[in-house]
Amino acid sequence: MSDSLELFPASARISPAGRLQIGGCDATRLAEEFGTPLYVLDYATIREQAARAQDAFRSRWQSVLVLYATKAYFAPFLARLYRQWGLGLDVTSEAEIVIARHAGFDPNLIYVHGNNKTREEIRAALDTGISHFVIDNFEDVSNLEALASAMTPPRAVNCLVRLSPNIDAHTHRYMTTGVADSKFGLGVGNGMAERAALEILQAPHLRLVGLHFHIGSQVFDTDALREALDAVLDVAADWRAKFNFDFRELNIGGGWGVAYHETQTTLDVEAFAENTTSALRAGLGARSLNEDLKLIVEPGRGLIARAGVALYRVGSVKMIPGVRSYVAIDGGIGDNVRPALYSARYNAFLANRMNEPATQEYAIAGRYCEQGDVLIEHAALPETRVGDLLVMPVAGAYQLPMASNYNLIPRPAVVLVQDGNARLVRRRETVEDMLACDLDV
Ligand SMILES: Cc1ncc(COP(=O)(O)O)c(C=O)c1O
Repeated sequence: MSDSLELFPASARISPAGRLQIGGCDATRLAEEFGTPLYVLDYATIREQAARAQDAFRSRWQSVLVLYATKAYFAPFLARLYRQWGLGLDVTSEAEIVIARHAGFDPNLIYVHGNNKTREEIRAALDTGISHFVIDNFEDVSNLEALASAMTPPRAVNCLVRLSPNIDAHTHRYMTTGVADSKFGLGVGNGMAERAALEILQAPHLRLVGLHFHIGSQVFDTDALREALDAVLDVAADWRAKFNFDFRELNIGGGWGVAYHETQTTLDVEAFAENTTSALRAGLGARSLNEDLKLIVEPGRGLIARAGVALYRVGSVKMIPGVRSYVAIDGGIGDNVRPALYSARYNAFLANRMNEPATQEYAIAGRYCEQGDVLIEHAALPETRVGDLLVMPVAGAYQLPMASNYNLIPRPAVVLVQDGNARLVRRRETVEDMLACDLDV
């Protein structure tokens, strides 16, 4: 059982009675108090992962900014913590900008991303004082120039070009973003990135300050990241030769692989930082590029995934003779679309009987009206009964942000646990919440 706890938040323990505890709180009690499905986030893990990322890079490079990729999971309490700890943010929507602003973020620590930024979002970002944008297409350049010049007084905007270096990250196709056929970024080989750079240089209110790449998520193959780094440094050297490009910021994206089950090993951030910074130093030196460069990393999942667990109540156990047995829970694709979207694999346990041996195999079925709503095809569990509390670890990233109201089922509540205290940070949705935007005409 101790091996399996490695997937759980740092503070996870098993009580003598075999019950899961996180942040000093008994999972069974949390489920009783707040209901299920319930997402539990561990403060200690959130703190530890952020500090580890910052320390790993800051101890090896003179100027480092760790941006948290808010798409992984974002909420006002998290924004406040990250601001206190000195992280920056990678944001993609107006609501993310609003949360960041309310948390008091320095706009200089916010970078705006997206492959289709609307003019309203760009305007909201400029109004907030944000001045760093990652350019993903030619419309970004024209829209930014138009909107920055229309501000009173006109604003100067710093642009990083998102490169598509045509390198395969060897992850799921839906999480691969650095190949030629990707909706993200601008191609190096086909000249699109260079054309965007030249357009930025010609725009009076835009400054070309750096390069960005993010070749995918759940990347365990660090050779691919290193290859991408080399390709991007080649671009920097080429642009310097062609139009005196002043390379001041390099954003190497996120995508740090996280283990969701025993067959995977979470990317070692220390080793990754060591390899990346030494490759960067050598690569800059070999091309006589300036080492006085701001290095930006933007992990999402790597900072938050392991901090969360999802708790579900078992409502039905259906044994189909000669076929298989289904354990039906009160969540599913509505709060975790990842298994259906890209075959993400998970493990499950019984939070109320953690010490019992896993003697049975079940499919973990969600409650939504789709046959594909199966969170785990083959889960090894103790003999499971109605009323058991099923827990799925590594639930902190890309679950709640992609949650839906399919079947008009309210999205779950979220609690933050620390030192025996549980704070509700998002209440469970109500029927009224879900119907609030409908007009009965
Ligand atoms: C541009 C960019 N940066 C960072 C991330 C974060 O990726 P991950 O959560 O896998 O670290 C993403 C994820 O889609 C992204 O698109």
